[in-house]
Amino acid sequence: MKNPLRLSPEPVEASIEAAAAHAEDISNVFRDLQIVLPPDTVIRRDEPLARRTTLRVGGPADLYIEPGSDNALASTLEIAHLRGIPVFILGRGSNLLVRDGGIRGIVLSLAHPHFSRIEIDGERITAGAGARLKNIAHEARRAGMGGLEFFEGIPGSLGGALRMNAGAMGAWTFDAVEELRCMSRSGAILTLPAREVPVEYRACPLLQTHIALGAVLRGRPEDADAIRSRMDQFSNKRWTSQPNQPSAGCTFKNPQPTLPAGRLLDELGLKGARVGDAMVSDVHANFFVNLGQAKAADILALIERVRARAREERGVELETEVEIVGEDA
Ligand code: EPU
Repeated sequence: MKNPLRLSPEPVEASIEAAAAHAEDISNVFRDLQIVLPPDTVIRRDEPLARRTTLRVGGPADLYIEPGSDNALASTLEIAHLRGIPVFILGRGSNLLVRDGGIRGIVLSLAHPHFSRIEIDGERITAGAGARLKNIAHEARRAGMGGLEFFEGIPGSLGGALRMNAGAMGAWTFDAVEELRCMSRSGAILTLPAREVPVEYRACPLLQTHIALGAVLRGRPEDADAIRSRMDQFSNKRWTSQPNQPSAGCTFKNPQPTLPAGRLLDELGLKGARVGDAMVSDVHANFFVNLGQAKAADILALIERVRARAREERGVELETEVEIVGEDA
């Protein structure tokens, strides 16, 4: 007989059953992937993600995979689709807040060298989605190609920069893109001229449904010293105006071009505001830093506190720029 004092036992039992079914699904996918994928593909279970993000918070991924080729990536997507397992693409984790419960399903990273190549042919720079923006900027400089210096200061990979049309120093990623190569969630590869890819401030909607594999970027021939001096200027500006503690870069999109979120939060006196070890940077108020032991929940609580102040005192609805994923603990 059921205990009359137990409140709502069914939802608890249902959630235990759902968790067991999910664990079984993950075990099945893990086994399928081990059979199908070549040995140079990294496949791990319960992979901690905090160390794979610049903010250094968040729980584990059920499955973490680094495919070693386009085919291995397509096979992973196919198996995930057949088994109904969600797939999340992780770049260098520099614009990412993973909740403390981690990410259910597969986390895919294009960190394998296959996806990180950078080749320069005249003014065309072909780079893989896993290539670091900093490396692209320096390779372009060495080849006497200007226009990509702004990449030096963005701590991410090309794939992430394409997905969110990342920008710095007045330039956007797609300003430099000539051609985009991506894969659909069913494994088909598409190559598109950049003019056919709609982009917005901090967004490339196509890459919400497709996975960036790489791009052809166009530089402009220039004197290497002029490129270096611009790069140094950008780097100095960044060192003096942005914090070097762990963060996910800017937390909010600028609500208007004439109203930078950083200035707004600064004017509201929020620099130094804290929840646990999460703090509004005292260098740049749109950066939320992890002083050491912050949890994702602390950063999220700080985000909500700051949004409420902007809403109540200035009537401004702030939208997060940092991508927030995963489940609460
Ligand atoms: N400001 C303040 N107080 C602050 C921060 C900024 O008064 O605490 C003022 C600055 O003095 C300046 C204005 O706000 O007058 C704008 O600041 P900044 O030049 O730092 O640019 P931003 O709009 O805050 C944008 C990008 C950054 C990028 C920088 C540098 C967004 C949301 N942010 O910041 O991108 O690095 O320009 O080009 O568009 C990111 O995307 O994660 C990111 C950090």
